[in-house]
Amino acid sequence: MHAGSARELDWRNRNLEMQTAIDTKVLEGLRQHPKRIPSWYFYDARGGELFQQIMAMPEYYLTRAEHEILRGQAESIFTAAGHTPGTPFAIIELGAGDGSKTKELLRYLIANDFNFIYQPVDISSNAIDLLKENLSDLPEFEMEPLVGDYFEMLQQTMSNDVPKMVLFLGSNLGNYDDATAKQFLQRAANGMQSGDVLLMGLDIVKDPKRILDAYNDAAGITKAFNMNLLERMNRELDADFDKDRFDHAPVYENNQAVSYIISKEDQSVYFGATEERIEFKKGEKIQTEISRKYTRESLQGLLGDSFQITHVFQDRQKDFSDFLLIKS
Ligand SMILES: C[S@@+](CC[C@H](N)C(=O)[O-])C[C@H]1O[C@@H](n2cnc3c(N)ncnc32)[C@H](O)[C@@H]1O
Repeated sequence: MHAGSARELDWRNRNLEMQTAIDTKVLEGLRQHPKRIPSWYFYDARGGELFQQIMAMPEYYLTRAEHEILRGQAESIFTAAGHTPGTPFAIIELGAGDGSKTKELLRYLIANDFNFIYQPVDISSNAIDLLKENLSDLPEFEMEPLVGDYFEMLQQTMSNDVPKMVLFLGSNLGNYDDATAKQFLQRAANGMQSGDVLLMGLDIVKDPKRILDAYNDAAGITKAFNMNLLERMNRELDADFDKDRFDHAPVYENNQAVSYIISKEDQSVYFGATEERIEFKKGEKIQTEISRKYTRESLQGLLGDSFQITHVFQDRQKDFSDFLLIKS
């Protein structure tokens, strides 16, 4: 066997291992009570396309607000982070998605001759493909895209002494409950050196109706995004979900938007991949996503000793904040 095909086989095995791990996680969540599906499962090719549409919806203020911050305040952000054009540094973005907001930061860095490498990490290879295409019209710069889990990839990027700026944008932290968010921050800190910075974009507590509308838009795009999970399971787990017998059911309570898929009747769904049936009662919910909303104080409560907040960048309406955190 020549080297090329051995590499190809390695890659295929790795993909197969990843797919098995994904399937196991999803089924584990459905066997539990209450049932849940991890929110990263949204991002197959169709889910990625739908998320692009969500970001452009009138109700989804989050992307516009953070875009405004990164477009208008790039210089202040890099000055506050202590980066100057001469000194090399790495930007590692966790859960980069399509990179459309980060593009504003990259544009600023390229125009001002900064010496940097951009390492976007995403568990979805579709997202990384989209990101590469999205950034292809920028002048040349150094980029190393990484497909995989945040922490596995963070470890890979941490093996050298170049100062790091980690980006965790789009209020991605809000997909974790507070206990898990604390662990996330601790793990991120463990992968960073003292003085490295984390720029974290968070959605801020505000009028509950505006928040709920962002997860339950009039055109039904968030509904399609949520219900696409059933189609993904039908395809990848050989399941037989009938979408008409389930519904999209988001709520906002205790400073978090929670998306559910609710079963309209007693029913059982067959999963060919594992040859098992999973039962659903009428009114039973599958939790598919939480999106926590923050204040500076609630973020402070999650940081422990790992990070200090040094600067806060806000949009004009103060809907959203990008917090600059320095590793202690
Ligand atoms: C809500 S999107 C946000 C994308 C981008 N940060 C933004 O602000 O527009 C979340 C992204 O994180 C990725 N993601 C979720 N969980 C992940 C994990 N454990 N490791 C790596 N990427 C993950 C998803 O594939 C998706 O592209």
